[in-house]
Amino acid sequence: MPLSKREEGRLTVEQARDLAVVRAILAENAMTTDGVGWASGCYLVAYFGHEPVGVVGLEPMLDAALMRSLCVAASMRRRGVGAALVGAARKAAHTRGVRALYAFGCGAGDYLRRLGFSEVPMPQLIAALAGTPGVRLRQARPERLSDETAFFLDISQDGIIAR
Ligand SMILES: CC(C)(COP(=O)(O)OP(=O)(O)OC[C@H]1O[C@@H](n2cnc3c(N)ncnc32)[C@H](O)[C@@H]1OP(=O)(O)O)[C@@H](O)C(=O)NCCC(=O)NCCS
Repeated sequence: MPLSKREEGRLTVEQARDLAVVRAILAENAMTTDGVGWASGCYLVAYFGHEPVGVVGLEPMLDAALMRSLCVAASMRRRGVGAALVGAARKAAHTRGVRALYAFGCGAGDYLRRLGFSEVPMPQLIAALAGTPGVRLRQARPERLSDETAFFLDISQDGIIAR
């Protein structure tokens, strides 16, 4: 899956230049746009041809990052777009020096497990990512935090070529 220029009939993933596109995809899928403008955040958009069809965000904090706002347009699901976005987020995180990638399950824990994430205690995520908008949003609603699950993916070995 190329991280390059958009082309008819092809899936590409690129860093968002216009956060309005990110907000529009999230809003269409009833997902929060709170915190999307955070200066340290990074958003990636999947395009099928020239059509934006999915999004994922990263909120880095030192050598950890929260992967958030993973969302694929309903009409484009089950075609590998979500997996391509997570793969691209993983690469973007690695290039930013991130070694520990976290996510909230948001009801899609089984999907994250398929992509290599495993469940960890919530305090581990909170300690690693305190101050990020994603964590602040959850802390503002403790009743929702208690229903949430924390997921973790070790990316500290990404980019290492084993001989
Ligand atoms: C979860 C989501 C991003 C997956 O995107 P996608 O492009 O359809 O995913 P992929 O094509 O990479 O993978 C599809 C596979 O994942 C499975 N899958 C999708 N959502 C799942 C979920 N919530 N739990 C478990 N499996 C799931 C599909 O059944 C499909 O399985 P199959 O290959 O055996 O048919 C998409 O369904 C979505 O945007 N959902 C709403 C928002 C959401 O839940 N975001 C995740 C927050 S962590």
